[in-house]
Amino acid sequence: MTGKVADTSLADAGRISFEWAKSRMPIIDKIAKKKKPLDGVRLGICLHVTKETSVLVMAAKKLGARISLCSANPLSAQNDIAAFLYSQGIDVYAWQGQTIPEYRRCIRDVLGSRPSIIVDDGGDLHLAAHRTAAGGIIGGTEETTSGVKRLMALEKSGRLAYPVIAVNNAKTKHLFDNRYGTGQSTIDGILRSTGILLAGLRVVVCGYGWVGKGVSARARGMGAVVTVTEVDSVRALEAKMDGFEVKHLSDAAVSADLFITCTGQTAVIRKEHIASMKDGAILANAGHFDVEIDVSYLYSNKHVLVRPNLERFEIDGKKIYLIAKGRVANLVCAEGNPPEVMALSFANQLLCILQIAENPVMPVKVHGVSQSIDQAVAEYALDQLGIEIDSLTEKQKKYQQS
Ligand SMILES: NC(=O)c1ccc[n+]([C@@H]2O[C@H](COP(=O)([O-])OP(=O)(O)OC[C@H]3O[C@@H](n4cnc5c(N)ncnc54)[C@H](O)[C@@H]3O)[C@@H](O)[C@H]2O)c1
Repeated sequence: MTGKVADTSLADAGRISFEWAKSRMPIIDKIAKKKKPLDGVRLGICLHVTKETSVLVMAAKKLGARISLCSANPLSAQNDIAAFLYSQGIDVYAWQGQTIPEYRRCIRDVLGSRPSIIVDDGGDLHLAAHRTAAGGIIGGTEETTSGVKRLMALEKSGRLAYPVIAVNNAKTKHLFDNRYGTGQSTIDGILRSTGILLAGLRVVVCGYGWVGKGVSARARGMGAVVTVTEVDSVRALEAKMDGFEVKHLSDAAVSADLFITCTGQTAVIRKEHIASMKDGAILANAGHFDVEIDVSYLYSNKHVLVRPNLERFEIDGKKIYLIAKGRVANLVCAEGNPPEVMALSFANQLLCILQIAENPVMPVKVHGVSQSIDQAVAEYALDQLGIEIDSLTEKQKKYQQS
C-alpha cells in the first residue's frame, strides 16, 4: 500500500462520516452485493474525496477492485475521509490545500499504479493518461459536464484512446446531482463561508444549465431576488418563464450583492464587470474549474483573508469579496453534494464501471449511460423511498404503438 494523506490519526473520524453517508446511500450497498466482479481490476479514481466518495470507493473495494485515489480539486479533499480510506488499504494521494504541482503529482501517482479503468471528475486524470500515453486502460467514466466536454473534444480530434462513459449524461445524474445537489450545497458553501442573510439580497446567477437552475431556485427559496445571465437563447427563455429576471451581466453587475458562476466557461466575470460592481459585492463559483471569475485580476489587488474561504480585495476604493479563491464553493466551503443525490450519481458510476469491466471491447468513443442503467437507478431510488408508480396497461401500450 502506498499514498500520502495529511493525518492518519483522523481515520476514526473519517469512518464515522463514512458510516453516516453510507446510511443515506443504500443503493450503493445494493449494487455492491454482487460477487467480486471487479477482481483483478485496478481503478484509478480522481474524485472529490468526500464522505460520499468513500461510500463508492469502499463498494468498489468490496466488489474486488484495487484502488488508487486522488482528489479532483486541490482544495476539496476532506482529510478525515482520506485518512479513513488509507486505513482501509486504498492507495490515497489526497489532502486539503494542495499546491498545483502537488495536485498534478497526485494525478501522476494514480496513473503510476497502472489502472485499467479510469474514474474521473473534470477530466484531469483522463487528459494526463492521454498525455503520458498510459497503457493498459480498457475504459473510463466521467462524472461532470466540464469533463465530458473535454473528452468530446478529444474524440472529435481523433485522439481519444479508450472508451469513456459520460456518467454526467445519465438523467439520474444531472437532473438531480447538478440541479438539486449542487443547488443546495452551493448555497450551503456560501453561507458557511460568509454567514450572510440571503433574504432580500440581489443575486446574479451566471448560466442557467442544470447547476444554474438549482442554484437560482434555492437562492430564491431563501428570499433572494435572482437575476440570470445566459448566452443560450432557449435557456434564457426558460429562466424568464421560471420567473427570473434575465439581463446582460454588465447591466446586472451594477446593483447585485452576490454573484454565482455556474457556466463551465472561462472568463465570465471579468475586470470590466468587477469595475462596475458596488462596494461589498461577493463573488462565488459553482463550476468545475476556477476559470469563471478573473481571479488573477483580483489577486493583483491588495487583499486580506476575512475568515476561512473568504477574501477581501481593495479595488478603486471599493471592497470586493471572493469565496474559496474562485474554486467550487460547495466542495471547498461545505461538504459537496448531499449523500442522497450522490447515491444516484455513484450508482451510475458503479454500474458503468461494472459495464466496462464486463465488456472490455467497447468502441472507442464517448458513450452515454445506457437507458437500462438510468432506469435501474431510478427504480432503486423509488424503491428506497417506498414509492410505487403505475405502469401502462396493455391497451395503453397498443395505443402508444398505433
Ligand atoms: N460544484 C459541483 O458540485 C458541480 C456539480 C455538477 C456540475 N458542476 C460543474 O458546473 C458547471 C455547469 O454544469 P451544468 O451541468 O449546469 O452545465 P450546463 O451545460 O447544463 O449549463 C451551463 C450553462 O451556462 C451557460 N453559459 C455558458 N457560457 C456562459 C456565459 N459566458 N454567460 C452566461 N451563461 C453561460 C450555457 O449556455 C449553459 O446553459 C460545469 O463546470 C460542471 O462541470 C459542478
